Amino acid sequence: MSSQQRYTITAALPYTNGPVHIGHLAGVYVPADIFARYQRMRGSDVAFICGSDEHGVPITIKAKKEGITPQELVDRYHKIIGDSFKEFGITFDHYGRTSSTEHHNTASAFFTKLYNDGKFIEQVTEQLYDPEADQFLADRFVVGTCPKCGNTESYGDQCEKCGTSHNATDLIDPKSAITGNTPELKETKHWFLPLDEYSDWLNEWIVEGHSKDWKANVLGQVKSWITDGLHPRAVTRDLDWGIPVPVEGADGKVLYVWFDAPIGYISATKEWAAREGKNWEDYWKKDDTKLLHFIGKDNIVFHCIIFPAMLKAHGDYVMPDNVPANEFLNLEDDKISTSRNWAVWLHEYLEDFPGQQDVLRYVLTANAPETKDNNFTWKDFQARNNNELVANLGNFVNRVIVLTNKYYDGIVPETANLAQRDLDVLKQIKAFPKTIGDSLDRYRFREALQELMNLSSIGNKYIAEEGLEPWKLAKTNPEQVQNIMYVCLQLTTALAILSEPFLPHTSTKLKNMLNLKECHTEPVEVPRSGWNRVASDEPLLPSNHKINKAELLFSRIEDEQVTAQLEKLEATKAANAATTPNLMPQKDETNYDDFMKMDLRVGEILTAEKMPKTDKLMVMTVDTGIDKRTIVSGIAQHFSAEELVGRKVTVLANLAPRKLRGVESQGMILLAEDPEGKLVFVNPDDAVVNGATIA
Ligand code: 2FM
Ligand code: ZN
Repeated sequence: MSSQQRYTITAALPYTNGPVHIGHLAGVYVPADIFARYQRMRGSDVAFICGSDEHGVPITIKAKKEGITPQELVDRYHKIIGDSFKEFGITFDHYGRTSSTEHHNTASAFFTKLYNDGKFIEQVTEQLYDPEADQFLADRFVVGTCPKCGNTESYGDQCEKCGTSHNATDLIDPKSAITGNTPELKETKHWFLPLDEYSDWLNEWIVEGHSKDWKANVLGQVKSWITDGLHPRAVTRDLDWGIPVPVEGADGKVLYVWFDAPIGYISATKEWAAREGKNWEDYWKKDDTKLLHFIGKDNIVFHCIIFPAMLKAHGDYVMPDNVPANEFLNLEDDKISTSRNWAVWLHEYLEDFPGQQDVLRYVLTANAPETKDNNFTWKDFQARNNNELVANLGNFVNRVIVLTNKYYDGIVPETANLAQRDLDVLKQIKAFPKTIGDSLDRYRFREALQELMNLSSIGNKYIAEEGLEPWKLAKTNPEQVQNIMYVCLQLTTALAILSEPFLPHTSTKLKNMLNLKECHTEPVEVPRSGWNRVASDEPLLPSNHKINKAELLFSRIEDEQVTAQLEKLEATKAANAATTPNLMPQKDETNYDDFMKMDLRVGEILTAEKMPKTDKLMVMTVDTGIDKRTIVSGIAQHFSAEELVGRKVTVLANLAPRKLRGVESQGMILLAEDPEGKLVFVNPDDAVVNGATIA
């Protein structure tokens, strides 16, 4: 028992303001489940933890819209999400929720300890306030322009376009998401975690300590956060939905959702341990515990910087051993979006494709966004099912089971005089637990799945090679056929065992077909330590063992099914278009040469001044890299002079000069204009030098 490696595996707690979709599955839950199942099979001591993230502003906004309480909303999605995870075969040891009493107590106690130990800075600052709604505007209660990328629909806490996290007060032209009003500033007291004090330690622990074993995308984000400079971060909010701040004088304040949510991993572990008669502290406080956080890339800062700083401040906890974050999955070349309903929802998939959980698990793993964003298409889904699952894995297994029943009444044949080829295949099989395991140990799930499919390919090739088709050989060389079928049955058993983390429903069917219960001692449903059995010298399926009849493993996905899914997405597109304003139609065609005549460059606004006695004109000096020149533009009603100075802009440099109210304008600054006439800068990256050309 003591030699077992202990793992605490967490999967990001999904927000309960909507169901889960394929992006969540591919990024977080499928790889986490594969890893947890794999470790259980290796005999590790695993706590696989998840639950609903039930606080935060989006939940209150959605509940308000629907005219229900936040609790009613989270109850609804907690059930939908929990049920669909279960049916999909995600084997959390515990699925908790952050509205539970255990969680409220755990998060309060955590805050109190940090508070009593003097780990927070208490500060009165000015926050955005909506007088009409009579409330402070935290996080997603504010929408405005992102100071970094110019996205006009950035939220107060995070810009979904460029991923930057910021404070609501950093937004340009902020608006209340409740009333649409421009907010006021009002003083309020909050508690801040001084992240800047953890900067050196974080750098040493992650950047220096984990540069070899953490994923490049994770290290990249961590490094840039640290080099940009960490700042104290408020861990409380003026809201009425959440966990009340447990100190005097904090009425009307709750813990910031990103303070309480990761503590949800701890409270869920406590609930699980109480139920299972375990000690939860072993899973969070013992040095030899490996803590792993499976998350999507938008959660990296919270799991690699903020939560570790909280754990460090507390002092009793282990640090994550790894945070194998994935990038994003797109759907049919467009960003998955809950608000635009652009998604494949898990609960709908389970209704549309009953009994086909493993097809989705397979496609999402084969195409996982491990190192870069990836794309899910229904055509690819169909092709992978038909060409890989049906034609490779399904075909091999079906031949083996059907032929064993047909020729040997389902009895695993005896062998005699195994040929070198047979011995080679038996040897090859034994190498697979290590090959697949090595990939999984490095969080390379795509590679691991490919290896599993290679095992099945070996089987197909073995049967087909050199004309060795057992049904033809049966009459002329029965001994050879027995040997071949014996080897194929060993390979099928290896597939039944090693497919379990990836394709658990398929694995169960295979084990039933092979009647493994009769000859393997551990429970077939949870084959603990089953992983390495494949590498042992014992036969995986002994001669004279009786197997069962063949069941259908995979069936073809037909064009009509794909068309139906694509039509569903088209309907979403049409519904979205009906609610989006009319865009300007495309202009007449131009040609390459005409376009290349435009001298477009990166420039920087050095000075800006409204032209006296005009409403619209702004006179600017712009550094175009090649010179500093005057440009006059009709943007004064959209931007103040202060907002303009220092901004990188795209300049059309060779536009013929023209005089505006007596001032010569020597070029044009490019802006995007939306159908409502709102102007937004076409912003080059700050890192580009002035004068860089654009084409
Ligand atoms: O991004 C999300 O969906 C968050 N609800 C994840 C929270 S993870 C954790 F820390 F609880
Ligand atoms: Zn942005």
